[in-house]
Amino acid sequence: MAAESGEKWVLSVTAQTPTNIAVIKYWGKRDEELILPINDSISVTLDPGHLCTTTSVAVSPAFTHDRIWLNGKEVSLSGGRFQNCLREIRSRATDYEDEKRGIMITKKDWEKLRVHIVSYNNFPTAAGLASSAAGLACLVFSLAKLMNVKEDHSQLSAIARQGSGSACRSLYGGFVKWIMGKEDNGSDSIAVQLADENHWDDLVIIIAVVSSKQKETSSTSGMRDTVETSELIKHRAKEVVPKRIKEMEAAIAKRDFPSFARLACADSNQFHAVCLDTLPPIFYMNDTSHRIISCVEKWNRHEGSPQVAYTFDAGPNAVLISKDRKTAALLLQRLLFQFPPQSDADLNSYVIGDKTILKDAG
Ligand code: DP6
Repeated sequence: MAAESGEKWVLSVTAQTPTNIAVIKYWGKRDEELILPINDSISVTLDPGHLCTTTSVAVSPAFTHDRIWLNGKEVSLSGGRFQNCLREIRSRATDYEDEKRGIMITKKDWEKLRVHIVSYNNFPTAAGLASSAAGLACLVFSLAKLMNVKEDHSQLSAIARQGSGSACRSLYGGFVKWIMGKEDNGSDSIAVQLADENHWDDLVIIIAVVSSKQKETSSTSGMRDTVETSELIKHRAKEVVPKRIKEMEAAIAKRDFPSFARLACADSNQFHAVCLDTLPPIFYMNDTSHRIISCVEKWNRHEGSPQVAYTFDAGPNAVLISKDRKTAALLLQRLLFQFPPQSDADLNSYVIGDKTILKDAG
Protein backbone atom coordinates (compact mmCIF):
# COMPACT_ATOMS: atom_id res chain seq x y z
CA MET A 1 0.00 0.00 0.00
CA ALA A 2 1.60 3.13 -1.23
CA ALA A 3 4.92 1.83 0.10
CA GLU A 4 6.95 4.42 -1.78
CA SER A 5 4.97 7.35 -0.43
CA GLY A 6 5.71 6.56 3.23
CA GLU A 7 3.01 7.33 5.76
CA LYS A 8 2.44 10.96 4.82
CA TRP A 9 -0.49 10.99 2.48
CA VAL A 10 -4.15 11.62 3.22
CA LEU A 11 -6.89 10.90 0.73
CA SER A 12 -10.20 12.64 1.32
CA VAL A 13 -13.63 13.26 -0.18
CA THR A 14 -16.27 15.83 0.85
CA ALA A 15 -19.94 15.56 -0.05
CA GLN A 16 -23.14 17.39 0.79
CA THR A 17 -26.56 15.73 1.06
CA PRO A 18 -29.92 17.39 1.69
CA THR A 19 -32.49 15.92 4.00
CA ASN A 20 -35.78 14.54 2.79
CA ILE A 21 -39.29 14.99 4.15
CA ALA A 22 -41.71 12.09 3.96
CA VAL A 23 -45.18 12.83 2.60
CA ILE A 24 -46.21 9.19 3.08
CA LYS A 25 -44.44 8.17 6.27
CA TYR A 26 -42.21 5.25 7.15
CA TRP A 27 -43.05 4.13 10.69
CA GLY A 28 -42.35 0.58 11.83
CA LYS A 29 -39.80 -2.10 11.00
CA ARG A 30 -40.23 -5.78 10.24
CA ASP A 31 -36.47 -6.35 10.73
CA GLU A 32 -34.63 -4.15 13.27
CA GLU A 33 -31.13 -5.22 12.28
CA LEU A 34 -31.41 -4.77 8.51
CA ILE A 35 -33.88 -1.88 8.89
CA LEU A 36 -36.66 -3.28 6.73
CA PRO A 37 -39.92 -1.30 6.92
CA ILE A 38 -43.51 -2.50 7.21
CA ASN A 39 -44.70 -0.19 4.42
CA ASP A 40 -43.49 1.75 1.38
CA SER A 41 -42.92 5.49 1.87
CA ILE A 42 -42.58 8.56 -0.38
CA SER A 43 -40.57 11.70 0.28
CA VAL A 44 -39.43 14.93 -1.27
CA THR A 45 -35.74 15.76 -1.07
CA LEU A 46 -34.99 19.40 -0.29
CA ASP A 47 -32.82 21.38 -2.70
CA PRO A 48 -29.06 21.15 -2.11
CA GLY A 49 -27.71 23.75 0.29
CA HIS A 50 -30.79 23.90 2.58
CA LEU A 51 -31.14 21.59 5.58
CA CYS A 52 -28.20 19.43 4.64
CA THR A 53 -25.25 17.51 5.99
CA THR A 54 -21.70 18.07 4.82
CA THR A 55 -19.35 15.18 5.41
CA SER A 56 -15.63 14.76 4.81
CA VAL A 57 -14.11 11.31 4.94
CA ALA A 58 -10.39 10.63 4.86
CA VAL A 59 -7.98 7.71 4.95
CA SER A 60 -4.29 7.72 5.68
CA PRO A 61 -1.77 5.05 6.66
CA ALA A 62 -1.07 7.32 9.67
CA PHE A 63 -4.59 6.81 11.08
CA THR A 64 -4.69 4.12 13.73
CA HIS A 65 -8.45 3.96 14.44
CA ASP A 66 -11.74 4.65 12.71
CA ARG A 67 -13.02 7.92 14.22
CA ILE A 68 -16.03 10.19 13.74
CA TRP A 69 -16.85 13.80 14.73
CA LEU A 70 -20.47 15.00 14.54
CA ASN A 71 -21.02 18.76 14.66
CA GLY A 72 -17.54 19.28 16.10
CA LYS A 73 -17.73 16.62 18.81
CA GLU A 74 -16.10 13.21 18.61
CA VAL A 75 -18.64 10.43 19.12
CA SER A 76 -18.25 6.70 19.45
CA LEU A 77 -18.16 4.71 16.25
CA SER A 78 -18.99 1.52 18.06
CA GLY A 79 -22.74 1.89 17.34
CA GLY A 80 -23.90 -0.92 15.05
CA ARG A 81 -25.38 1.35 12.40
CA PHE A 82 -22.21 3.30 11.49
CA GLN A 83 -20.25 0.08 11.57
CA ASN A 84 -22.76 -1.68 9.30
CA CYS A 85 -22.46 1.06 6.69
CA LEU A 86 -18.67 1.15 6.94
CA ARG A 87 -18.43 -2.63 6.64
CA GLU A 88 -20.76 -2.76 3.62
CA ILE A 89 -18.83 -0.02 1.82
CA ARG A 90 -15.41 -1.50 2.66
CA SER A 91 -16.49 -4.86 1.28
CA ARG A 92 -17.31 -3.19 -2.05
CA ALA A 93 -14.15 -1.02 -2.29
CA THR A 94 -12.15 -1.35 -5.50
CA ASP A 95 -8.54 -0.62 -6.46
CA TYR A 96 -7.55 3.05 -6.48
CA GLU A 97 -4.52 4.62 -8.11
CA ASP A 98 -3.18 8.18 -8.05
CA GLU A 99 -0.05 8.04 -10.20
CA LYS A 100 0.94 11.65 -9.53
CA ARG A 101 1.00 11.20 -5.75
CA GLY A 102 2.29 7.64 -5.98
CA ILE A 103 -0.71 6.23 -4.17
CA MET A 104 -1.96 2.77 -4.99
CA ILE A 105 -4.65 1.23 -2.79
CA THR A 106 -5.83 -2.31 -3.48
CA LYS A 107 -9.09 -3.88 -2.39
CA LYS A 108 -7.19 -5.60 0.42
CA ASP A 109 -5.57 -2.34 1.59
CA TRP A 110 -9.00 -0.75 2.06
CA GLU A 111 -9.79 -3.35 4.74
CA LYS A 112 -6.75 -2.23 6.75
CA LEU A 113 -6.86 1.53 6.22
CA ARG A 114 -8.62 3.43 9.04
CA VAL A 115 -11.03 6.21 8.23
CA HIS A 116 -11.70 9.59 9.84
CA ILE A 117 -15.16 11.11 9.35
CA VAL A 118 -16.19 14.71 10.03
CA SER A 119 -19.85 15.55 9.61
CA TYR A 120 -21.77 18.80 10.10
CA ASN A 121 -25.52 19.54 9.97
CA ASN A 122 -26.64 23.07 9.11
CA PHE A 123 -29.90 22.49 11.06
CA PRO A 124 -30.94 21.14 14.49
CA THR A 125 -29.92 17.52 15.01
CA ALA A 126 -32.54 15.03 16.23
CA ALA A 127 -35.32 17.63 16.43
CA GLY A 128 -37.58 15.81 14.01
CA LEU A 129 -36.05 17.39 10.92
CA ALA A 130 -34.74 14.11 9.55
CA SER A 131 -31.10 14.84 10.43
CA SER A 132 -30.22 11.15 10.40
CA ALA A 133 -31.54 10.88 6.85
CA ALA A 134 -29.13 13.47 5.48
CA GLY A 135 -26.28 12.33 7.76
CA LEU A 136 -26.25 8.64 6.92
CA ALA A 137 -26.93 9.19 3.22
CA CYS A 138 -23.99 11.60 3.07
CA LEU A 139 -21.74 9.23 4.99
CA VAL A 140 -22.47 6.33 2.66
CA PHE A 141 -22.15 8.45 -0.46
CA SER A 142 -18.82 10.02 0.55
CA LEU A 143 -17.32 6.70 1.72
CA ALA A 144 -18.40 5.10 -1.56
CA LYS A 145 -16.65 7.85 -3.54
CA LEU A 146 -13.53 7.63 -1.38
CA MET A 147 -13.27 3.86 -1.67
CA ASN A 148 -14.02 3.79 -5.38
CA VAL A 149 -17.21 1.78 -4.96
CA LYS A 150 -18.88 1.17 -8.32
CA GLU A 151 -22.43 0.48 -7.11
CA ASP A 152 -25.26 2.67 -8.42
CA HIS A 153 -27.46 4.95 -6.27
CA SER A 154 -30.15 2.34 -5.63
CA GLN A 155 -27.56 -0.16 -4.36
CA LEU A 156 -26.02 2.56 -2.19
CA SER A 157 -29.53 3.34 -0.90
CA ALA A 158 -29.76 -0.21 0.47
CA ILE A 159 -26.55 0.45 2.43
CA ALA A 160 -27.70 3.88 3.69
CA ARG A 161 -30.95 2.18 4.78
CA GLN A 162 -28.91 0.10 7.23
CA GLY A 163 -27.68 3.33 8.82
CA SER A 164 -31.13 4.91 9.16
CA GLY A 165 -34.23 3.89 7.22
CA SER A 166 -35.15 7.33 5.93
CA ALA A 167 -31.55 7.90 4.77
CA CYS A 168 -32.05 5.64 1.76
CA ARG A 169 -34.38 8.25 0.23
CA SER A 170 -31.77 11.06 0.43
CA LEU A 171 -29.58 9.39 -2.20
CA TYR A 172 -31.85 10.96 -4.83
CA GLY A 173 -33.24 14.43 -5.43
CA GLY A 174 -36.86 15.18 -6.30
CA PHE A 175 -39.60 12.73 -5.30
CA VAL A 176 -38.41 9.39 -4.01
CA LYS A 177 -40.09 6.14 -3.07
CA TRP A 178 -38.60 3.64 -0.64
CA ILE A 179 -39.89 0.26 -1.72
CA MET A 180 -40.29 -1.92 1.36
CA GLY A 181 -39.27 -5.07 -0.57
CA LYS A 182 -40.13 -8.69 0.08
CA GLU A 183 -36.77 -10.40 0.54
CA ASP A 184 -35.61 -11.35 4.05
CA ASN A 185 -32.07 -10.19 3.27
CA GLY A 186 -33.29 -6.70 2.30
CA SER A 187 -31.79 -6.80 -1.21
CA ASP A 188 -34.99 -5.37 -2.74
CA SER A 189 -35.65 -2.79 -0.01
CA ILE A 190 -34.28 0.16 -1.96
CA ALA A 191 -35.07 3.74 -2.92
CA VAL A 192 -36.09 4.74 -6.44
CA GLN A 193 -36.60 8.19 -7.91
CA LEU A 194 -40.22 8.88 -8.92
CA ALA A 195 -39.54 12.30 -10.45
CA ASP A 196 -36.45 14.48 -10.57
CA GLU A 197 -35.93 17.86 -8.89
CA ASN A 198 -37.19 19.82 -11.92
CA HIS A 199 -40.48 17.96 -12.24
CA TRP A 200 -42.56 20.14 -9.88
CA ASP A 201 -40.51 23.22 -9.11
CA ASP A 202 -43.55 25.42 -8.35
CA LEU A 203 -43.71 23.91 -4.87
CA VAL A 204 -42.14 25.90 -2.05
CA ILE A 205 -41.31 24.31 1.28
CA ILE A 206 -41.35 26.39 4.45
CA ILE A 207 -40.19 24.85 7.69
CA ALA A 208 -41.51 26.47 10.85
CA VAL A 209 -39.01 25.58 13.56
CA VAL A 210 -41.28 25.25 16.58
CA SER A 211 -38.50 23.87 18.73
CA SER A 212 -34.90 22.97 18.03
CA LYS A 213 -34.61 20.88 21.19
CA GLN A 214 -33.72 17.20 20.80
CA LYS A 215 -36.83 15.02 20.84
CA GLU A 216 -37.54 12.86 23.90
CA THR A 217 -38.44 9.70 22.00
CA SER A 218 -36.17 8.78 19.11
CA SER A 219 -37.80 7.54 15.91
CA THR A 220 -36.08 4.20 16.37
CA SER A 221 -37.47 3.47 19.82
CA GLY A 222 -40.81 5.16 19.09
CA MET A 223 -41.54 3.00 16.08
CA ARG A 224 -40.41 -0.13 17.94
CA ASP A 225 -42.96 0.60 20.68
CA THR A 226 -45.62 1.30 18.06
CA VAL A 227 -45.08 -2.03 16.29
CA GLU A 228 -45.20 -3.85 19.63
CA THR A 229 -48.29 -2.18 21.06
CA SER A 230 -50.46 -0.42 18.46
CA GLU A 231 -53.48 -2.03 16.79
CA LEU A 232 -53.88 0.93 14.47
CA ILE A 233 -50.43 0.46 12.89
CA LYS A 234 -51.49 -2.92 11.46
CA HIS A 235 -54.46 -1.36 9.69
CA ARG A 236 -52.28 1.54 8.52
CA ALA A 237 -49.50 -0.61 7.08
CA LYS A 238 -51.79 -3.17 5.41
CA GLU A 239 -54.83 -1.24 4.27
CA VAL A 240 -54.15 2.49 4.26
CA VAL A 241 -50.59 3.05 3.04
CA PRO A 242 -50.61 0.75 -0.04
CA LYS A 243 -53.61 2.67 -1.42
CA ARG A 244 -52.12 6.06 -0.51
CA ILE A 245 -48.81 5.22 -2.16
CA LYS A 246 -50.57 4.61 -5.49
CA GLU A 247 -52.62 7.79 -5.15
CA MET A 248 -49.58 9.84 -4.15
CA GLU A 249 -47.57 8.54 -7.12
CA ALA A 250 -50.42 9.58 -9.43
CA ALA A 251 -50.70 13.03 -7.77
CA ILE A 252 -46.97 13.63 -8.18
CA ALA A 253 -46.96 12.44 -11.80
CA LYS A 254 -49.86 14.83 -12.65
CA ARG A 255 -48.68 17.67 -10.37
CA ASP A 256 -52.15 17.49 -8.83
CA PHE A 257 -51.72 19.73 -5.77
CA PRO A 258 -55.18 19.20 -4.17
CA SER A 259 -54.67 15.40 -4.12
CA PHE A 260 -51.04 15.76 -3.04
CA ALA A 261 -52.00 18.03 -0.13
CA ARG A 262 -54.97 15.91 0.96
CA LEU A 263 -52.81 12.77 1.05
CA ALA A 264 -49.79 14.37 2.74
CA CYS A 265 -51.90 15.97 5.53
CA ALA A 266 -53.94 12.80 6.08
CA ASP A 267 -50.80 10.70 6.29
CA SER A 268 -49.10 13.03 8.74
CA ASN A 269 -52.23 13.03 10.92
CA GLN A 270 -52.49 9.26 10.82
CA PHE A 271 -48.81 8.86 11.71
CA HIS A 272 -49.36 11.01 14.82
CA ALA A 273 -52.57 9.10 15.60
CA VAL A 274 -50.54 5.88 15.50
CA CYS A 275 -48.05 7.49 17.90
CA LEU A 276 -50.95 8.24 20.28
CA ASP A 277 -52.12 4.64 19.89
CA THR A 278 -48.70 3.46 21.15
CA LEU A 279 -48.09 2.37 24.74
CA PRO A 280 -46.82 4.56 26.32
CA PRO A 281 -48.33 7.18 23.96
CA ILE A 282 -45.84 9.30 22.05
CA PHE A 283 -46.50 13.04 21.71
CA TYR A 284 -44.31 14.56 19.03
CA MET A 285 -46.44 17.62 18.28
CA ASN A 286 -47.16 20.39 20.78
CA ASP A 287 -49.80 23.14 21.06
CA THR A 288 -47.99 25.34 18.56
CA SER A 289 -47.94 22.46 16.04
CA HIS A 290 -51.68 21.97 16.52
CA ARG A 291 -52.34 25.68 16.04
CA ILE A 292 -50.38 25.62 12.78
CA ILE A 293 -52.53 22.71 11.56
CA SER A 294 -55.73 24.57 12.43
CA CYS A 295 -54.49 27.69 10.71
CA VAL A 296 -53.69 25.80 7.46
CA GLU A 297 -56.92 23.78 7.55
CA LYS A 298 -58.98 26.95 8.02
CA TRP A 299 -57.24 28.69 5.13
CA ASN A 300 -57.61 25.71 2.80
CA ARG A 301 -61.31 25.42 3.63
CA HIS A 302 -61.83 29.13 3.10
CA GLU A 303 -60.20 28.98 -0.36
CA GLY A 304 -62.28 25.95 -1.34
CA SER A 305 -59.19 23.95 -2.37
CA PRO A 306 -55.83 23.21 -0.71
CA GLN A 307 -53.24 25.98 -0.96
CA VAL A 308 -50.78 24.49 1.52
CA ALA A 309 -50.00 20.98 2.79
CA TYR A 310 -48.54 20.31 6.22
CA THR A 311 -46.56 17.37 7.48
CA PHE A 312 -44.85 16.72 10.82
CA ASP A 313 -42.16 14.12 11.44
CA ALA A 314 -41.05 12.85 14.84
CA GLY A 315 -41.04 16.32 16.39
CA PRO A 316 -43.15 19.51 16.69
CA ASN A 317 -41.67 21.35 13.67
CA ALA A 318 -44.04 22.01 10.78
CA VAL A 319 -43.06 21.33 7.19
CA LEU A 320 -45.41 23.41 5.05
CA ILE A 321 -45.57 22.83 1.31
CA SER A 322 -47.25 25.60 -0.64
CA LYS A 323 -48.47 25.17 -4.18
CA ASP A 324 -46.46 28.08 -5.60
CA ARG A 325 -44.30 31.12 -4.69
CA LYS A 326 -47.23 33.52 -4.42
CA THR A 327 -48.97 31.23 -1.93
CA ALA A 328 -45.70 30.79 -0.03
CA ALA A 329 -45.45 34.56 0.43
CA LEU A 330 -49.05 34.70 1.72
CA LEU A 331 -48.39 31.75 4.01
CA LEU A 332 -45.35 33.41 5.47
CA GLN A 333 -47.36 36.58 6.11
CA ARG A 334 -50.02 34.56 7.91
CA LEU A 335 -47.46 32.66 9.98
CA LEU A 336 -45.71 35.86 10.99
CA PHE A 337 -49.04 37.40 11.97
CA GLN A 338 -50.31 34.37 13.93
CA PHE A 339 -46.94 33.38 15.42
CA PRO A 340 -44.85 36.52 15.75
CA PRO A 341 -41.40 35.19 16.66
CA GLN A 342 -40.60 37.97 19.16
CA SER A 343 -43.58 37.24 21.35
CA ASP A 344 -43.75 33.48 20.88
CA ALA A 345 -40.47 32.05 22.09
CA ASP A 346 -41.67 28.63 21.00
CA LEU A 347 -41.53 29.45 17.33
CA ASN A 348 -38.09 30.74 16.58
CA SER A 349 -37.43 30.59 12.87
CA TYR A 350 -38.85 30.00 9.44
CA VAL A 351 -36.77 28.43 6.73
CA ILE A 352 -37.97 28.98 3.21
CA GLY A 353 -36.39 27.74 0.03
CA ASP A 354 -32.80 28.81 0.13
CA LYS A 355 -33.30 31.53 2.71
CA THR A 356 -33.71 31.57 6.46
CA ILE A 357 -36.32 34.29 6.84
CA LEU A 358 -36.16 34.70 10.59
CA LYS A 359 -33.54 33.23 12.81
CA ASP A 360 -33.69 32.46 16.51
CA ALA A 361 -35.76 35.45 17.56
CA GLY A 362 -36.67 33.55 20.74
C1 DP6 B 1 -41.16 10.08 11.09
O1 DP6 B 1 -35.31 6.88 9.56
O2 DP6 B 1 -35.07 8.23 11.68
O3 DP6 B 1 -39.26 10.75 9.84
O4 DP6 B 1 -34.74 3.83 10.60
O5 DP6 B 1 -34.82 3.89 13.08
O6 DP6 B 1 -33.23 5.37 11.85
P1 DP6 B 1 -34.56 4.67 11.82
O7 DP6 B 1 -35.68 5.80 11.80
P2 DP6 B 1 -35.74 7.13 10.94
O8 DP6 B 1 -37.33 7.38 10.98
C2 DP6 B 1 -37.93 8.40 10.26
C3 DP6 B 1 -39.37 8.46 10.61
C4 DP6 B 1 -40.12 9.65 10.07
C5 DP6 B 1 -40.89 9.30 8.81
C6 DP6 B 1 -40.10 9.19 7.53
O9 DP6 B 1 -39.07 9.85 7.36
O10 DP6 B 1 -40.57 8.46 6.64
